[in-house]
Amino acid sequence: MPGDNASKALIDTLNGLLADYFALYLKTKNYHWHVKGPQFHDLHLLFDAQATELFALTDVIAERVRKNGGATLTSIGAIAGRTVIADDDRSGLDAMAMVAALRDDNAALVERIRAAKAAATEAGDNATEGMADDWTDQAQQRVWFLSSTLG
Ligand SMILES: [Fe+2]
Repeated sequence: MPGDNASKALIDTLNGLLADYFALYLKTKNYHWHVKGPQFHDLHLLFDAQATELFALTDVIAERVRKNGGATLTSIGAIAGRTVIADDDRSGLDAMAMVAALRDDNAALVERIRAAKAAATEAGDNATEGMADDWTDQAQQRVWFLSSTLG
């Protein structure tokens, strides 16, 4: 039987991942709102589609924490304290710099999901372990779209 330590580690890892999803959601929306240039239309839509995908998983991940008996995030402060996604408060960033930043952040997210899957395996949480593959596929698709936009 998986022990308490494995369960606590899973809860902690999932809460970190959840913070990343919220932070990357808002960063992607920042770029959706502020992007400028000849590719405005495509990037405005691409960023919005990606933001929607990120936000949709926040509730799923938070509820995996609750189903594992843990407490999850409660506030913007809790998100800021746990995410590894760097804030970007610039509204005038070059469009391709936005694309590159999101590509790197989504690549970092793939690694955070990998850690969450490993923690789920340790804790014997088959449901999270299975879901993590879909989260990875989505994140890798975002990386692919963003990388391909850069040429
Ligand atoms: Fe919008």
